[in-house]
Amino acid sequence: MDLSTRYLDLTLSSPLMPGASPLAADMNTVRRLEDAGAAAIVVHSLFEEQIVQDRLSVLQATEDPAESFAEAISFFPKSDGYRLGPEAYLEHVRRIKAAVDVPVIASLNGLTPAGWTDYARLIEQAGADALELNVYFVAADPTVSSAAIEDRVVDVARRVKSAVEIPVAVKLSPFFSALHHLVRRLRSEAIDGLVLFNRFYQPDIDIEALETTPTLELSTPAELRLRLRWLAILSAEADRTALAVSGGIHDVGGVLKAVMAGADAVQVVSALLRHGPQRLAQLRADLVAWLEEHEYESLAQARGSMNLARCPDPVAFERANYLAALTGWNAANRPLDVL
Ligand SMILES: Cc1cc2nc3c(=O)[nH]c(=O)nc-3n(C[C@H](O)[C@H](O)[C@H](O)COP(=O)(O)O)c2cc1C
Repeated sequence: MDLSTRYLDLTLSSPLMPGASPLAADMNTVRRLEDAGAAAIVVHSLFEEQIVQDRLSVLQATEDPAESFAEAISFFPKSDGYRLGPEAYLEHVRRIKAAVDVPVIASLNGLTPAGWTDYARLIEQAGADALELNVYFVAADPTVSSAAIEDRVVDVARRVKSAVEIPVAVKLSPFFSALHHLVRRLRSEAIDGLVLFNRFYQPDIDIEALETTPTLELSTPAELRLRLRWLAILSAEADRTALAVSGGIHDVGGVLKAVMAGADAVQVVSALLRHGPQRLAQLRADLVAWLEEHEYESLAQARGSMNLARCPDPVAFERANYLAALTGWNAANRPLDVL
């Protein structure tokens, strides 16, 4: 079965790949992922804060450190196990590139228009075949408008794109009020692809200790639906950009839904963290079996078959459809005897 796909100007043997995560932190796991059929390896992110912190540390070592420096550094997250400093990150990309035959997609994470975007070039020189730019940002400042945040995303994407020759994808969050408009702007900056979507990790509150506790829960299949809607909308455009799904892929049904909605690449993290790299081989085998059973000749035949332009009920994707959903719930579920 032909599962091949084009994503970020790369021809891949299938859409399946591990998403940015600690899965690429260990060389043994990287090799196991390739053996399990990963069509590319996406490396975890190098964060803007890590680059800034590294530069501040160099300054600190060479100049008399002002109090304010030490204070500034203390705001940055302390590097944990797999969070490498910038130089070690570049070395890690080099090692992965040397160890596998599939393309390597590195990841930069940040949102201020500052010098850290130069690292895109260094990552390219380290051998990455493509780059993901993750613009993770919580819009908590009441003086910054949505338009200003979108300008920042576009500006950072432009800087990164102009620093490199390799293809660049932007990993977006779903929390933009006019996502499609932003995507158009990114496309006009020649951005090569989008990864839909970031997941925000929400701190919890410890009510006894009166502390916030960082939480990182792995995803569930229900998270896929938000992605399906936007894949279906964005893949229906005539001059669309390459699309990867990230979030909620746990089984072959999820892979097929994402591809039918228009995904060119399918990234998996939580399912691989839970079940190990071998889960990727299982997904691949299940995908082939399903396509054969349903008499498809290739995966390409399924791609976009349920997007906004082609599905029988486009309104389901395009409109919020609250009325139908809310009235339908009562009739379909009938658990209201308790009321
Ligand atoms: C432990 C962990 C670390 C992650 N690190 C990164 C990262 O460095 N960069 C990034 O863009 N996304 C990172 N992610 C997000 C994943 O790439 C992915 O978008 C998210 O887990 C949703 O996919 P899933 O449902 O398959 O898990 C991380 C996720 C997890 C669980």
